[in-house]
Amino acid sequence: MNAMVGEWLDVGSVEDVPRRGARTIATGQGAIAVFKAADGTLFALWDRCPHRGGPLSQGIVHGHAVTCPLHNWVISLETGTAQGADKGCVRKLPLKVEDGRICLSAQAVAAGPGA
Ligand code: FES
Repeated sequence: MNAMVGEWLDVGSVEDVPRRGARTIATGQGAIAVFKAADGTLFALWDRCPHRGGPLSQGIVHGHAVTCPLHNWVISLETGTAQGADKGCVRKLPLKVEDGRICLSAQAVAAGPGA
């Protein structure tokens, strides 16, 4: 975690996140996973599957979704909700890119992943 720019936290360079992969950011509230889809779109979610807390950052990214490595739930990166018949939701964090840097909402980071 780096500098705080207004209400946004600079958490690293866009270049540091592999395409169709993720990078994790450790916070006092738990890990955050920043994903980059094949089309370059970035998403930030708490790194905790809504099923049993699996590390979504280690899942397979396809389209704007990730498949959890533990039991294959598919989680939307756009909304954090489980797809198909599975029910659950992981909190998403507002993200913006400024000068090639990834910035996350400081408020959302402070609020943590929820229950
Ligand atoms: S913990 Fe993610 S599918 Fe079970």
